[in-house]
Amino acid sequence: MAGSAVAVILLASLLVGQVGRGLVSARTDAALVTAQSGITKVTDGINLVHPASTDSPVLDEKLQALARQLSDAGQVGNQYRILLVRADGSGTTYATEGVATSDIPSVLDKELDGAPLAYTYEHDPDRLVIGGVVNTSLGEFRLFQFFPLSSEQSTLSLVRRTTIIVGGLLVLLLPLLVFLVLRQVVQPVRDAARTAERLALGDLEERMDVRGEDEIARLAASFNSMAAALQKQIRQLEDLSRVQRRFVADVTHELRTPITTVRMAADVLHEARTDFPLAAARSAELLQTELGRFELMLSELLEISRYDAGDAQVDAEPTDLVALTHRVVDAVRPLAVRKGSELVVHGDGPVVADLDHVRIERVLRNLVVNAIEHGEGHPVEIRVAGDSTAVAVTVRDLGVGLKPGEDRLVFTRFWRGDPSRARNTGGTGLGLAIAHEDTRVHGGRLDARGRPGQGAVFRMTLPRSVGGELDGSPLPLDPVRTRA
Ligand SMILES: Nc1ncnc2c1ncn2[C@@H]1O[C@H](COP(=O)(O)OP(=O)(O)O)[C@@H](O)[C@H]1O
Ligand SMILES: [Mg+2]
Repeated sequence: MAGSAVAVILLASLLVGQVGRGLVSARTDAALVTAQSGITKVTDGINLVHPASTDSPVLDEKLQALARQLSDAGQVGNQYRILLVRADGSGTTYATEGVATSDIPSVLDKELDGAPLAYTYEHDPDRLVIGGVVNTSLGEFRLFQFFPLSSEQSTLSLVRRTTIIVGGLLVLLLPLLVFLVLRQVVQPVRDAARTAERLALGDLEERMDVRGEDEIARLAASFNSMAAALQKQIRQLEDLSRVQRRFVADVTHELRTPITTVRMAADVLHEARTDFPLAAARSAELLQTELGRFELMLSELLEISRYDAGDAQVDAEPTDLVALTHRVVDAVRPLAVRKGSELVVHGDGPVVADLDHVRIERVLRNLVVNAIEHGEGHPVEIRVAGDSTAVAVTVRDLGVGLKPGEDRLVFTRFWRGDPSRARNTGGTGLGLAIAHEDTRVHGGRLDARGRPGQGAVFRMTLPRSVGGELDGSPLPLDPVRTRA
């Protein structure tokens, strides 16, 4: 708006100046012709008077008549006036009404000393004054003719007024026009942005409208072909990963039957191992433990492939989390005793939440077994608590702990902090990944925090009812042990 205002003001002053100059110069040209003919008329008129009659009433009368004749010749009502004086300033002045010798511009008087014709502009009233030297047989006269410029002045003020109005309108309209044009351009860009956002959100069918043949249409067309290419790629990848998931699920499933047979055979061998030579008996025992691990791994793989296939079902019912925790702790106590870890549970029951007890029991077992396995014989502390919207369990150990960054890595599939160490405890690296999924289907979250050599704390937070909102947790995630 400021820019267009400056431009309009510049153009308007240029226009008004130009028009004003044009008007004045046209008027001046016409006036000069009139003035010249006036001078000729006066010269001729005076020359007709007999030289002998100088200073006589005859001359006076003649001059008076000439002056009247001249001013009558000027347009009526146009305030054209004349003034006729002797060059030496003596004698009578012949003037039309409204002008006197005092009206003679002194500049003009001076200029006429050196030139036969001169003119000047006057303000208030606006007029053009043309002075001319009249050389006659009766001496030198000076004729001043006053041409009013009032009509030019009013034309000019009309032009000025119109320019101001038009300019003002332009100043207002220009930004409006610019706005409209910009919107024309900006709108499709906005559409493109919105389409891109929807695409990014996964709505792969989203396309832009292609209208016309301008740059915007070209943009829309290439945008659409990009979207189509993306969609194709994503579909392919999806198909591929679906095939892979199916494959894993099928393989895992198919393996179960032969494994059961092998298991039965191994059991027979294991039972009869005392009758075998030493090496064979050792092999039977190895077979037994490794088969156990194999079965565990297979069931974990099956579970995770179910999650991947998206057909994990949650059978949620109101369950007391404190009682559930005690059940888990009782089940893993033999392992804790073997490893020399004491299991301490804090939690005043009941803490009831809607949950699938099979899955949550699995999560807790995983956390407690991990804490025992990585807890290096130190006590393991388990806390249960709930607030109005959520329930939580923390499992804290004082063992090897977690290095920086590992608090995320632990939930990655097949990730194991120290595979050589975990080998004899039988981990596959899938336990926490499954626990993570188990919590997630409840709408809850699983977090870990730890310090190397000082232990780790794992916290499961679940909404009171499946799918409820979660903000924060009833229990802190603090790797430093809090005293009971
Ligand atoms: N309480 C813990 N303290 C230290 N490290 C842990 C703890 N729990 C899990 N981890 C690390 O996370 C890894 C993955 O755990 P998990 O998914 O249960 O697999 P697994 O127990 O079969 O190794 C473990 O190998 C271990 O390195
Ligand atoms: Mg584990």
